[in-house]
Amino acid sequence: MEKKPINPNFPHILHGGDYNPDQWQDRPDILREDMRLMKLANCNEMSVAIFAWQALEPEDGVFDFSFLDRAMDDIYAAGGRVILATPSAAKPAWLSKKYPEVLPVNEDGVRLSHGNRMKICFTSPVFRQKVAEVDRAIGERYAHHPALYAWHLGNEYSGQCYCPVCRRAFRDYLKEKYGTLDNLNRSIWSAFWSHTFTDWDQIDPPTPNGEGSLHALSLDWRHFCTRQTADFMRMEADSVREFNPDIPVTTNFMGFYMPLDYRELAKSLDFISDDVYPTWRADEEEDIKTAQCVSLRHDLMRSMKHAPWLLMESTPSLVNWHKFNKLKRPGVNELFGLGAVAHGADSVQYFQWRKSRGGAEKFHGAVVDHEGSENTRVFREVSHLGARLKKLDAVVGTLTRPKVAILYDWNSNWAIDFSQGFRNGDNKGVVQAAESYYAPLWNRGIDVEVISVEDDFSPYALIIAPMLYAVSAETGAKLDKYVADGGTLVGTYTLAMTDENDLCYLGGFPGAGLRKVFGIWNEEIDTLYPGESNLVVSGSGEYTAVDHCEIIHAEGAEVIAEYAGDFYAGGPAATRHSYGKGTAYYVAFRDTGEYAERLLGDILDELEIKSEFAGTLGHGVTAHSRTDGENVYVFLQNFSQSDSAASTTALWSDLETGERVTGDIALKALETRILTRPVK
Ligand code: GLA
Ligand code: ZN
Repeated sequence: MEKKPINPNFPHILHGGDYNPDQWQDRPDILREDMRLMKLANCNEMSVAIFAWQALEPEDGVFDFSFLDRAMDDIYAAGGRVILATPSAAKPAWLSKKYPEVLPVNEDGVRLSHGNRMKICFTSPVFRQKVAEVDRAIGERYAHHPALYAWHLGNEYSGQCYCPVCRRAFRDYLKEKYGTLDNLNRSIWSAFWSHTFTDWDQIDPPTPNGEGSLHALSLDWRHFCTRQTADFMRMEADSVREFNPDIPVTTNFMGFYMPLDYRELAKSLDFISDDVYPTWRADEEEDIKTAQCVSLRHDLMRSMKHAPWLLMESTPSLVNWHKFNKLKRPGVNELFGLGAVAHGADSVQYFQWRKSRGGAEKFHGAVVDHEGSENTRVFREVSHLGARLKKLDAVVGTLTRPKVAILYDWNSNWAIDFSQGFRNGDNKGVVQAAESYYAPLWNRGIDVEVISVEDDFSPYALIIAPMLYAVSAETGAKLDKYVADGGTLVGTYTLAMTDENDLCYLGGFPGAGLRKVFGIWNEEIDTLYPGESNLVVSGSGEYTAVDHCEIIHAEGAEVIAEYAGDFYAGGPAATRHSYGKGTAYYVAFRDTGEYAERLLGDILDELEIKSEFAGTLGHGVTAHSRTDGENVYVFLQNFSQSDSAASTTALWSDLETGERVTGDIALKALETRILTRPVK
C-alpha cells in the first residue's frame, strides 16, 4: 500500500479556506458564529494570518498574538485544523516608512510607494531580516499547536525589483554562472548590435525602455528572479521549520504562471498548492474546454512532486477581478472541487471564508455572505460538497501512475516567448499547444503526468513534447535514449531550435541531436495570417493547419500526413520514424485539434494505453484515477451541461454508497461519481 498523505496526523480531505479573524477583532459574536458555521459547512480547515502582519506586529519588534491564539484554539475546538501563514505578502505601514528600502524599484527606476500587497524586493537584507523576525516569532509560538496542519509561506510570490541591491545581485549571479566576461559575451551572443560588455558593471537587467535585444540575457534575468524568489522563500521556510521539522511547508502557486519557474521553488517545499479561478461560462463546449485546461494544470501540480497537493484557493461562487464576474452555476463548485481531487488534490479550499465589509475584496465570493447565515445557495452547496468529501478518507494520500507524459519546460517557454519571429505580439502559445494535445487524452479518461526535462522518462510509454523550443544537448541525448530504448515520442513544430541559452542550433533543425531521432529536417517556417489556413491530408482524413506550417523533409521518417495547399503542397506535414526500439512522431503544423485527436487515438491504440475506468465515455465525460496500490479510485465526471453516459466492462463499487456499478452508467449534467475496485 503506497500513500503520501501531506500530514499523516490528519488524514482527511481538507475543506475550508482563507479566514481573516484579524479583520473582525471587535466582533467576538461574528468570530463565535464562524465556528458554528464552519461545522455546518462541513469544513475542517482554515488558512489563517495570510495578511495579518500588522495585527501580529503592531510596532517594530512588538508582537501581539491575542487574535491568533484565540483563532487557533477555537478552530481546534471545532474539530478543524489550521494552515498557518507567514505574513510577508502584505507589509505594515510602519515597516515601509521606517525602512523605505524594503519597497521595490520598478523597471523605470522609480521606487514604489507603500500600499496594496506584494511589492517585494526579494533581495533587500532589511526586508529579509524583518520577515525572518515575524516568521520566527510565529514559528516559535505555534509550531507545536495541535491545530497546526501546515505552513503557508507568503502568498502567490511574484514581482521583480530593479533596485541597486538587486542589480548588484544580478551581476553576481552572472559572474557565478559565466565565470568570465568573455564567456558571458560569447554565450549571450553580445557582438550583436555592439553589445559586447567590457566591465561587469555595464550590465543592467533587461527592461522595456532599456535592453531587450539579448534574449539570452532576458532568460538569465528570469532565472535570477526565480532564484531570488526561491531563496527568499527558503529563508521563510527555514524560519518556521526550525521549531518543528515535522510540519510540512507550502506556498500557493498560480498554475503555469509564466515569470517564475515553479519547479525551482518546488524543490524547497514539502508539498504543492495551487490557486485556481477558471472562467466558467455555462456554455457546453466552452466549459468542456475549460475543464480540460484546468485538468492539465492540476496534473502539473501533482507532477511537480508526483504526490498529492492542495487546492489552496478557489471561489465558491464568483471572483471580483474578472472583467465580467459571472456566478458559478449550481453544481459547478462541486464538480470543479471533486475534479481537483480526481487529479491528486487532497483538499477543496476557498478564497474566502467570509466576505469582508470593506476593502478591495468585499464583493469576492465567500462561503459566508454579508447576510451572515447558513441560508444561502452558496453555503448550502459548499456544505453539500463538504459532506461528500468526508466520505473520501480512503483517497487521501493516494497517487496517480500515468503511462503518458507531457513535457513542459519553463526555460523553453521563456525562450520562445522572448524570441522575435514566426508570430509576434502574443505568447507563442506553448500552453495552448499542450492543451490541444491534452484534450484527446482527457476525452478518453487517460491519466497524464506533466514532466520536466529533469524527470525520469522511463515510466512513460508515450511522451508528448509540444513546442519544446529550447533544448539542451543533454536533454536531446536523454530523449534520444528514451526513444532508442523503446519509448514513443511526439514532437511538434519549433522543436529544438535553440539550446538552453537560446542560441540557435547550426546544422539544421531540430537540433540537440534530434534530427536523426525524428528522421526529419525542418528547413523553413511559414507563418499564416489570422484567418488563413492550409489543408493537411492524412489517409482519407482532412485537417486544418493554422498559424504555423513548417516545411520539413523526411530523412528516413515515413510521411503520415501531407500539406495539400500552397507552394509546399505534397510535402510532409507529419512523420513517423522508427528509431532503435521506439518511435518518434513529428507534427510540423499547428492543428485545430482534430489531427491531435486522430494521431493520439492511433498511438494510444497501438500502445494499448487505456483509461483506468476501462470503458467508453460520453460527450463531456472524463475519468481520472488515483491508487494506493491495492485499490483504484476513479472519478467519473460529466462536465457537459446535459445528461451523458459512460460504459464500463469492469466491476466497480460506488465509494459513497457502496452500490455495485458496471455496464452502462447514466450521468446527469455536472454529476460526479467516485468508483473503486481492487487493483487485482
Ligand atoms: C488570489 C489571492 C487571494 C485573493 C484571491 C481573489 O488568489 O491569493 O488573496 O486575492 O486571489 O481571487
Ligand atoms: Zn530590489
